[in-house]
Amino acid sequence: MQTSPQALAEIALVIGREAGALALAGHESVQLAGTKSSPIDLVTKMDQDCETLIKQRLADLRPGDGFLGEESGEATTPAPGSVRWVVDPIDGTVNYFYGQPSWCVAIAAEVDGVTIAGAVVAPALGEEYTASLGGGSYLVDHNRKVKLACSEQSDLAYALVATGFGYRRERRVEQGRVIATLVPEVRDLRRCGAAALDLCWVGSGRVDAQFERGLNPWDRAAAGLVASEAGAVVAGLRGQPAGQDMTLAANPSLFAKLDAALSALNADGRG
Ligand code: IPD
Repeated sequence: MQTSPQALAEIALVIGREAGALALAGHESVQLAGTKSSPIDLVTKMDQDCETLIKQRLADLRPGDGFLGEESGEATTPAPGSVRWVVDPIDGTVNYFYGQPSWCVAIAAEVDGVTIAGAVVAPALGEEYTASLGGGSYLVDHNRKVKLACSEQSDLAYALVATGFGYRRERRVEQGRVIATLVPEVRDLRRCGAAALDLCWVGSGRVDAQFERGLNPWDRAAAGLVASEAGAVVAGLRGQPAGQDMTLAANPSLFAKLDAALSALNADGRG
């Protein structure tokens, strides 16, 4: 049941909007459902409800596709060559819990491990992003699509760099060591609390680069395509693919400089 990447991106956008509207409606009365990797890694009831909605809509529209969701884990594995949906029902859960606006729904379609389409919907910010492999990435402004291009900043000293922190103490000790060395060398750092937005903002040029150790596929899949279709390299350090060890996104020239700086700091190697 393959469909074009553009059609899959449209499905991701429509379902992302529906989940985003549900989450926005519940924004004032957030209920905690539990914690995950550490006591500060929150799950809200809305994370679960949005994932249930997305999973149901996809099952109705695309029976037989695979599914990987942050909250429910791997539900179905697709046959080779068919679509698997990779879903973060709310990226930026801590922001959502505190009533901050930087959170989003991220839905990607991948085939054989390659993301071919995705949408990121941030209703409290009024921002929507879509991307399809080879088809570019776009900010959707009402019914107008604005094509994205990442920044051309190639000087590390003038780069605005987004990053994030994991929820485990040992990981944060390492991440603190890395940013303590990096922050005097760049224009500034940003930590918005939603990795998918960091990556979309690389695509839109709102930041020059993003890096984070420990991201999961659902944090990265849809928004990574938004960044790469806008001209960014999205990968790990030293020629590795983006993964748990490191996700780094920037235009090719800045990517090379950050790759060298982060590799020298062993930013993907400990913690
Ligand atoms: C988190 C956010 C955060 C990043 C963490 C992620 P969640 O996802 O993207 O910005 O720093 O590594 O786990 O928990 O809000 O879905």
